[in-house]
Amino acid sequence: MKIFVDTGSIKDIQTIADLGILDGVTTNPSLLAKETGDYRQNLKKICDIVKGPVSGEVTATDFAGMLREGHDIAKIDQHMVVKVPLTRDGIKACKALSGEGIPVNVTLCFSPAQALLAAKAGASYISPFVGRLDDIGTNGMELVRDIVLIYDNYDFKTEVLVASCRGPMHVVEAARLGADIATCPPAVIDALYNHPLTASGLEKFLKDWEKMQAVKA
Ligand code: E4P
Repeated sequence: MKIFVDTGSIKDIQTIADLGILDGVTTNPSLLAKETGDYRQNLKKICDIVKGPVSGEVTATDFAGMLREGHDIAKIDQHMVVKVPLTRDGIKACKALSGEGIPVNVTLCFSPAQALLAAKAGASYISPFVGRLDDIGTNGMELVRDIVLIYDNYDFKTEVLVASCRGPMHVVEAARLGADIATCPPAVIDALYNHPLTASGLEKFLKDWEKMQAVKA
């Protein structure tokens, strides 16, 4: 399964890229608004670091505006993916941009019906927001299960990009269900490798080693 980081922070992206396990990046207007500098230049810097798919989202809500912004985003770098919201105009923009060979990530997906339409419109990625569904007392992972099943039934090539991951178990569940990608905030990526038993086990190994060195000295 591919791991993407969900942030606009170039510093955090560089740190995670250094781990050697990073496959791509997702951003959204809220994440980019937290950063300083020109957002287009920031996206270009991100592409130079990661050299994998980097999603940049349109802010227009009408078809013509989404196309205009989509073209502009796609010009930033060959790795850019245009993110459009799962609305009526978003579906139309997805169809048009995908038809031109521009990869599209359809975002803010909260139902299997929405995911079906995104795939039919040629989306390269569908982003079900599991955390936000959990937040309102529903099971976000059930949506992922449905989408994986539907896409398998019809052999859709759209990749299932599990978004709004709040913790490591969202990533593990996504992997169990056969999702293609999980996009996580930097802290969730850290939580994937951190484990208290690893930390305490390592501490004991090193203490025992020091004791042995002291006896030999
Ligand atoms: C994904 O593309 C989104 O940027 C993101 O996962 C949203 O996560 P949130 O619900 O934690 O804001």
